[in-house]
Amino acid sequence: MSVESRPIYYPNKAFAKEARIKNMCEYHDLMDWAKEDYEGYWDHWAKEKIDWFEPYETVLDESNAPFYKWFNGGKLNVTHQCIDRHLDVRKNKAAIIFEGDRGDKQIITYLELYRNVNRFANLLKNEFNVKKGDRVVLYMPMIPEAAYAMLACARIGAIHSVVFGGFSAEALRDRILDAEAKVVITADGAFRKGKPYMLKPVVDTALEEGCDCVEKVLVVQRNMEDVVWIEGRDYSYNELIDLEKDLCEPEVMDSEDPLFLLYTSGSTGKPKGVQHSQAGYILWAQMTMEWVFDVKENDTYWCTADIGWITGHTYIVYGPLAAGATTVMFEGVPTYPDAGRAWKMVEEYKINQFYTAPTAIRVLHKMGEHEPEKYDLSSLKVLGTVGEPIDPPAWKWYYEKIGGGRCSIVDTWWQTETGGHMISPLPGATPIKPGCATFPLPGIMAEVIERDGTPVEPGEQGLLCITKPWPSMIRTIWNDPDRFVKSYFGDAKKDGQPVYFSGDGAVIDEDGYITITGRVDDVINVSGHRLGTAEVEAAIKKHPHVAEVAVVGKPDDIKGESIFAFVVLKNAEDTFGEEAELVKEINQVIATEIGNIAKCDTIKVVPGLPKTRSGKVMRRILRAIAKGEEIKQDISTLEDPSIVAKIQTCVIG
Ligand code: WTA
Repeated sequence: MSVESRPIYYPNKAFAKEARIKNMCEYHDLMDWAKEDYEGYWDHWAKEKIDWFEPYETVLDESNAPFYKWFNGGKLNVTHQCIDRHLDVRKNKAAIIFEGDRGDKQIITYLELYRNVNRFANLLKNEFNVKKGDRVVLYMPMIPEAAYAMLACARIGAIHSVVFGGFSAEALRDRILDAEAKVVITADGAFRKGKPYMLKPVVDTALEEGCDCVEKVLVVQRNMEDVVWIEGRDYSYNELIDLEKDLCEPEVMDSEDPLFLLYTSGSTGKPKGVQHSQAGYILWAQMTMEWVFDVKENDTYWCTADIGWITGHTYIVYGPLAAGATTVMFEGVPTYPDAGRAWKMVEEYKINQFYTAPTAIRVLHKMGEHEPEKYDLSSLKVLGTVGEPIDPPAWKWYYEKIGGGRCSIVDTWWQTETGGHMISPLPGATPIKPGCATFPLPGIMAEVIERDGTPVEPGEQGLLCITKPWPSMIRTIWNDPDRFVKSYFGDAKKDGQPVYFSGDGAVIDEDGYITITGRVDDVINVSGHRLGTAEVEAAIKKHPHVAEVAVVGKPDDIKGESIFAFVVLKNAEDTFGEEAELVKEINQVIATEIGNIAKCDTIKVVPGLPKTRSGKVMRRILRAIAKGEEIKQDISTLEDPSIVAKIQTCVIG
């Protein structure tokens, strides 16, 4: 169904009346203001929203583009914005509601959060000698201490780098080394589906080789399982934390000091350390919380992401706390003990805003279509999705069965690099077309253009670009400023100037609605997680029998995309006729090198890869073969056109 012919869903009138942005006129007024006076617009919000220690000198400094500076010279501390400034008015309000996998619960008020973060900050500062600018890697489960650790770093000006707990020891080591981390914070492990799993042993393995930069490891006790202890390196959080004072003055930070690094996959090479700043990041995290989720003082907001991804950073920790909201943190999975778990929690905590990934919606729909009927979901006001396109059947179920036809669905398009939402409906204003991220948020100049900046015709696919710098944008790639420029500002121009290209394609319709069509580079999106083909291929090549490999994304009903690998062996006899065994081994190598999330659903041994005469692998052909499509493209430019039929035989056979 084309976007134009989709039905339009209008915001709930009663909700719109109370919303911060109430209708499209208000939206256009804000957008016009930003277009007419870009700096004046951002100056207004920065002054209104941020509690500055000292004012900034310039709003936007473009003198060293694309290394833009926002609110330069301003002084602040992000934890003051997220915690201290709330104490006068909401010290006894729940800041974090935690629910463990097995149903254990904790409520942490703003005052308690303040104390816990201060103690943690003192621990890092006094016992571990962590200073402003030092890097701290977090390899943590979804427990409140993960949020305290992030905020403790921000309090003392240390730069955190959270590594998703599903990454392997090798992947963790790469990230520790790239950031030259001084301290690693982890937990013994945590619980998933009622059972303990471990994290500390992964850290031990990661640190076995070459991580001389790491001086200390701090271990939070969560599942109480036995762990190996290295005297002089490993320290127990639970033993030390109560010895620390609960007052730690916030470090005075410059707007442009780095706040955190978060590694993400690109189309080439190893993952890149996306570097975010202080002021611009926290400003937009807070504003999007207020505009896109329209969180009100008494609301309870729940984002199901993991803190290892950008969604967990901006929309579990920084955004909700900056907005003074109550944020729910959940250790488990929404399908345990059954596919009604999430809806049970919505009923119990009277959740008002619920934010999740389309993959989770598809799984919950498939595993528990009628589960929502068992619970009272009437507290819900706004539903959100993120990370991948949402297909019409999943959208419809979410809208009708979860939202009861009352709630707007905000399909938020954004990226690790953008820091916060870029394109999204506003729940009280935007008429929604299902599966469509709709319009850029006020102040965000997102456009669908050709490489030279020409806007595409309605219905034509183009490059999704942000044509003006924005406050929460990536500042650089850690240790690699050239790669930053090349990765994001090398593909598209507008008015002769390089502009930010997201790596996504998009289509714009007659009404100006933007629909994301997916990555146009070599990045695969599995269940909303970004994986670079180059990264997966490098892992597979470590298998001793593999000579060459190419991986592509294949559409998948649940995961959005799954990984399909075409493998050429060094020696045809290497499989010994046991292809299944080889497939297992290759996936084991991937699990060791990257983590289970990068495992391939399909691995096929083929006699060769379709290459051009210059040696470039034609991935388009492989994508078509993976999908089982007829090959329509011209294959005469291949070095060996006959290889296509041979690969097809292997895949079908
Ligand atoms: C994809 C996640 C369609 C897109 C916040 C983007 C989406 C990548 C949407 C970023 C959406 C994110 N509709 N696709 N609403 N949101 N994407 O860095 O391909 O993990 O480039 O950030 O996810 O993934 P990342």
